Amino acid sequence: MGLLSVNLAENGYDIVIERGALYSVGCRCAAIGLKGLAVVVSNPTVASLYGAALRISLEGAGYRVASIEIPDGEEYKNSQTLNRLYDDLLEAGVDRSSFIVALGGGVVGDVAGYAAATWLRGIPFVQVPTTLLAQVDSSVGGKTGIDHPKGKNLIGAFYQPRLVVIDVDTLSTLVPRQFRAGIAEVIKYGVVIDLPFFEYIESHVDELRALNSDVLEEIILRCCRLKAEVVEQDEKEGGVRAILNYGHTLGHAFEALAGYRDMVHGEAVAVGMALAARISLFQGECSESDRQRICDLIVQCGLSIEIPPFDRQLLINALSTDKKSKSGTITFISNRGIGAYTMTRHTPDELLWMSGVESDDDIIDDLELYEEIEILVDDEAEDDLYGHQPFVWQETPVTETELPDSTPGSCLPDPLATATLAELYVSQGFVERALTIYYGLSAANPADETLRGRITELEGRGNGSLAVASEPHALYDDENAVAEAGAADFPIPSVPRSGRADTAVTVLNGWLENIKRMKAESVR
Ligand code: NAD
Ligand code: GLY
Repeated sequence: MGLLSVNLAENGYDIVIERGALYSVGCRCAAIGLKGLAVVVSNPTVASLYGAALRISLEGAGYRVASIEIPDGEEYKNSQTLNRLYDDLLEAGVDRSSFIVALGGGVVGDVAGYAAATWLRGIPFVQVPTTLLAQVDSSVGGKTGIDHPKGKNLIGAFYQPRLVVIDVDTLSTLVPRQFRAGIAEVIKYGVVIDLPFFEYIESHVDELRALNSDVLEEIILRCCRLKAEVVEQDEKEGGVRAILNYGHTLGHAFEALAGYRDMVHGEAVAVGMALAARISLFQGECSESDRQRICDLIVQCGLSIEIPPFDRQLLINALSTDKKSKSGTITFISNRGIGAYTMTRHTPDELLWMSGVESDDDIIDDLELYEEIEILVDDEAEDDLYGHQPFVWQETPVTETELPDSTPGSCLPDPLATATLAELYVSQGFVERALTIYYGLSAANPADETLRGRITELEGRGNGSLAVASEPHALYDDENAVAEAGAADFPIPSVPRSGRADTAVTVLNGWLENIKRMKAESVR
């Protein structure tokens, strides 16, 4: 059995992880002093499987039990369902001495939790999660809420449960698709917090997919422990808790565009993580092999990283209504290598650009532009761009196949996240932007003296307004973002703001003009 505590000043609680724990819910509720009517909120699917066992357990501990069902599915995680649930609570006579038991996946947990947070200004609730996703993530930490047609989880409250009881055996009835979806959230913890855990998942993929109970218990325990540690530091997401949104920014947008039907949450997060890894590579936060390793694990776990078809403007709109959006920019979580993270702020446009995601029309336009650039950036032009001792970079040169790729399913390296891009920025006079890339590259390759030398050289060229940092991630140009992070321990480095509104094509056109000019000058 696994027993964990979430240590929060007034709102702490235990997490019980045990096979067969469903039958102990009643006595565990009694042990923590819950009294009155026990209201089980579930959906028809889960209630038909586990409702009777839970009722027996609660009645066995002396509780009167009422059962309420909400419709099954993310598309019902909305205000209509919530209002009907309030009606049912009223009809069942739920008063302040009653408590709610949420039996089901993340949807039931979020909706029932939000009802508990708001009914009569708050009544106690207990989480009995029955999906992998809910057992490793949503049942812990007190995020409750519903979706708005324009964005996911836009309405909600932080409201901690009084107890979480996880019965690993309930996962045996989960359809494989839902089980796989939960693995996305499992991988998330490894990628941004815990490299040894990432390695554990890598080495237990087969057992995990075969629902090996020991491996499942170990994984659920480690995820819950990691989540509890994060929540204990930052209950209301003033800073570090945002790391748990890794892969969710783009994931939520895809989920919304799919009408909360065609992609389940974990599937959307899987694609979002693959793109987040790509953005991290672009930012110089991780290596290509890290990015590949993350994508490989996602795929080995049976999840797709294929980017769903979308309309670029709708995707921008969906990103703009992300609840983490503030003054047009979103706090974005990148993986620093594997097992660590970085936070930056970006506009939706910048995120799409860095992820390499383009709509079909844009891909064609951009490819034509890249091809032209590629022809122009021959050795001679490179010499002119970089001086007669060209900056040496180990990565393979830009070729057409390595260009930002938007083919569904592809997760190719983004060659623009290299010194070549940085030098192009330098040639454009965007020294700050170049430095941002070099800082990232240097963080990933701390022993590389050439990089550090180039940074020193470029810092010398700064106009004085640039914050020169001895440590790459101590570079702040956005005090608000730092304040928002909530603690100096979790700084949010931000890319320089200048020219932020530039679209990819505008930037590329600028390069093209510059390269043409330099080429012409070198011929003269
Ligand atoms: P879900 O709740 O829709 O459950 C998936 C499906 O599995 C449903 O059809 C459900 O009826 C069925 N099911 C549940 N348990 C079962 C079982 N044991 N056997 C057979 N079928 C079972 O989806 P989910 O993936 O559990 O949760 C996704 C939701 O969680 C999203 O709304 C997401 O926003 C939310 N979420 C919340 C948090 C948080 O911190 N509150 C974190 C992550 C995700
Ligand atoms: N699932 C994100 C969080 O709980 O913060």
